[in-house]
Amino acid sequence: MVRRRSPLAKPAHVFGREAEWRALGDFATRTTASAEHAMLGVVSGRRRMGKTYLLRALVAELGGFYFGATAATRGESLRSFGAALAAHAGAAAPYAFETWDDAITTLFGLARADGRDRPLVVVIDEFPYLTKMAPELPSIVQREIDRYQQEPSRMRLLLCGSAMSVMGGLLAGHAPLRGRAQLELIVRPFPYREAARFWNVDGDPALATRLHAVVGGTPAYRRQFLNDDVPEGLGDFDDWVCRTVLSPFTPLFRESRYLLAEEMEIRDNALYHSVLAAVAAGNTTRGGIANYIGRKAVDISHPLQVLEDSHLLAHEADVFRPGRAHYRITEPLINFYEAVMRPEWPLLEAGGAEEVWARSKERFAAQVAGPHFEVICRDYTLREGRRLLGGSPGRVGCGLVYDPSTRSQTEIDVGVIEPGDGGSRQAVRLLGEVKWGTVMGAGHLDRLRRARDVLAARGLETGDCALACYSAAGFTDALRAESEKDDVHLIGLSELYEE
Ligand SMILES: Nc1ncnc2c1ncn2[C@@H]1O[C@H](COP(=O)(O)OP(=O)(O)O)[C@@H](O)[C@H]1O
Ligand SMILES: [Mg+2]
Repeated sequence: MVRRRSPLAKPAHVFGREAEWRALGDFATRTTASAEHAMLGVVSGRRRMGKTYLLRALVAELGGFYFGATAATRGESLRSFGAALAAHAGAAAPYAFETWDDAITTLFGLARADGRDRPLVVVIDEFPYLTKMAPELPSIVQREIDRYQQEPSRMRLLLCGSAMSVMGGLLAGHAPLRGRAQLELIVRPFPYREAARFWNVDGDPALATRLHAVVGGTPAYRRQFLNDDVPEGLGDFDDWVCRTVLSPFTPLFRESRYLLAEEMEIRDNALYHSVLAAVAAGNTTRGGIANYIGRKAVDISHPLQVLEDSHLLAHEADVFRPGRAHYRITEPLINFYEAVMRPEWPLLEAGGAEEVWARSKERFAAQVAGPHFEVICRDYTLREGRRLLGGSPGRVGCGLVYDPSTRSQTEIDVGVIEPGDGGSRQAVRLLGEVKWGTVMGAGHLDRLRRARDVLAARGLETGDCALACYSAAGFTDALRAESEKDDVHLIGLSELYEE
């Protein structure tokens, strides 16, 4: 039987993160009446997403033991762990642990149940720093977790880390902790609407989309990095870019370089930046990327995999051509860096922000804001798709439609597919085109209709296929008139942000 306390209240200073907080609260307070036993949770997510912020808030609410590891030698880490644990236990002197085996055994010893006590929340933050020096740690934790399945324990252990390549491996394959965790939480960037609320710009979608194209949904970039320097309005955006991300005096300026360097698996920084620059320049296939940087496709398999494991690159399947996929940079700031900052680095370091920004307007629109706007429109369709399509949104992505009669290709920015099963055919639920800087007209709609015909001729079910035009620059009257007749959605900036 599971006893649940009422949900743990979220402190006011923690913005958003409702689902994450609920999951953590459940994990930390859940007790089973019959047998109290140790539970393990794993919290991961890229740096700056607010993992530490959440876990510290949890320990502040419930009490418990928080330990934040740093890059240090084995001896130094053991010493600071011993000191912190002794302080938590109220011991007069620091514990002098010889080995991690001693340390973890003592830690679990403190959580032995006496039948009445509440669970003990223990957070080991930046766990990969410890395993780097002490690779035996996961096995030791496993042994103690297993032992305290038989013996009663109050332990609620949360292992947390930012090195995604390490954290991902913790529970994978034959890893010792596989199958042991009751909670696996990945803390991700705020979705675009939540990010707009976090930055207090949700009333101004034109500003919110631009801001999101630069700083994305990373909470640290507002508070920790920019001291709450928020653009005052659309008119302040250019100045804001110059005084923040393009200014060598802000931490945001070097952030993209650090983000990559901090992923422990990444050694050859130059190669990784070249791969990212290739993607930022619009090369989205493996062959295209390899060609752009002058390497063979096999030479870039490893960097692509590491970047993907680190959640910096996403590999998304073409919705119309199974087996084909496109790479996309997931972190807007990195895309911004590769497209706007890296080519002009020396001038930026010399304080030439205004000059660089003035001549980057086109590149910003074409390589940053435009592609980013497509991502926002797909995200909108995935979340609001239920309303647009009157049901489950199916699979949302982009893809190419090839027309054999004209031997031409049409790029579809937003495609929604309902995979067929058994008797039913694969169905296209929506075809959409996205424009950042162009007022959309009836011609855009014609292209979508043609693509729909081509897909129907190919044997896909298109009877229920809606068409959608997404534009940040508006729609012509002709298109508005057309849209009344067919099942056509016109989605502008205000629709994307409307609650
Ligand atoms: N939910 C949140 N609400 C408000 N501020 C947040 C939130 N999450 C993160 N922050 C801000 O971002 C900063 C960095 O978060 P942090 O927890 O250190 O990230 P991580 O541990 O994932 O690297 C915090 O110090 C805080 O200023
Ligand atoms: Mg942290």
